[in-house]
Amino acid sequence: MFSKWVFCGFVYFLLGFLNLVEFCSGGITSSYVRNDDLSLDMPLDSDVFRVPPGYNAPQQVHITQGDHEGRGVIISWITPDEPGSNTVVYWAEDSKLKGSANGVVLTYKYFNYTSGYIHHCKIKNLKFDTKYYYEVGIGNTTRQFWFITPPKVGPDAPYTFGLIGDLGQTHDSNRTLTHYESNPVKGQTVLFVGDLSYADDYPFHDNTRWDTWSRFIERNAAHQPWIWTAGNHELDFDPEIVLSLCLPYSIKKRVDLISVISVLIITVVTLLQGETKPFKPYTSRFFVPFRASESTSPLWYSIKRASAYVIILSSYSAYGKNS
Ligand SMILES: *[C@@H]1O[C@H](CO)[C@@H](O)[C@H](O)[C@H]1NC(C)=O
Ligand SMILES: *[C@@H]1O[C@H](CO)[C@@H](O)[C@H](O)[C@H]1NC(C)=O
Ligand SMILES: *[C@@H]1O[C@H](CO)[C@@H](O)[C@H](O)[C@H]1NC(C)=O
Repeated sequence: MFSKWVFCGFVYFLLGFLNLVEFCSGGITSSYVRNDDLSLDMPLDSDVFRVPPGYNAPQQVHITQGDHEGRGVIISWITPDEPGSNTVVYWAEDSKLKGSANGVVLTYKYFNYTSGYIHHCKIKNLKFDTKYYYEVGIGNTTRQFWFITPPKVGPDAPYTFGLIGDLGQTHDSNRTLTHYESNPVKGQTVLFVGDLSYADDYPFHDNTRWDTWSRFIERNAAHQPWIWTAGNHELDFDPEIVLSLCLPYSIKKRVDLISVISVLIITVVTLLQGETKPFKPYTSRFFVPFRASESTSPLWYSIKRASAYVIILSSYSAYGKNS
């Protein structure tokens, strides 16, 4: 009896498999062949990292969905020299009426790095399927961008998502973004599946590489929402970051008295200035509409957009109540 069922199961499996092979021929859609060599990071003076001209000019402009249904947008940018204005001015393409909204500004420190003034501003109650222009900055250093809101949520609302992950800031990263932008089937929103800047690969998690990365993606992320998911490279968790500066590795390896002293130093240093708050740069720089889906954390939330219901999970958060 048992073996009969096993046999039947196997036959069904086989039929299912053959079925798949026969009817799900996706075909080849790209001639792209992955290169085996690791691509190097683009140097700091690359064109894609250029700082926009003008005193305190807003940089690193990027947008993401700002509510649950796609009628809100969170606009984020950084001013390097002083806080400047928190205001976004926006208007629909077919309207002379300008709206404005005020956001928040924050800074954070990471080891010996201090961020610029990070602005996040939510604009709400936009019309579906409409092109909007928006402006950030003040005086002679305003910058103007645009985006298009999605159609009303519904099962048949046509929409095209792009999928990007592990982007980093190598020459290949630039090729990847260019490839996305030049696709004849224009992506309208990027689902970003984690691992953004790879700044944590640098000594002391050099956070200036978060800035270069955000300047690099601005050309696309200022015009269409990138829906953020955190990966392990967003953790930036390093309680011993200072220790790697004051104790050479060879000394750290020695035992006895030195290890006792080390433990003491580790404890003190950790208390003083180790980086013990996971996702600090990521959550400071990338606001997401987690409250709109009644989530308790920006690391997991959901949005509706056109015909998609997108659920964002975090593989790097502890399992627990409400997580
Ligand atoms: C990155 O790609 C853009 C668009 O293809 C190009 O204009 C730019 O020169 C590239 N920059 C680097 C550093 O590769
Ligand atoms: C912007 O305006 C300030 C004074 O309002 C001036 O000092 C500065 O040179 C101007 N910058 C540019 C790029 O025009
Ligand atoms: C932070 O410290 C590292 C190691 O001493 C140094 O190379 C880097 O230039 C410092 N960065 C800043 C912003 O002071």
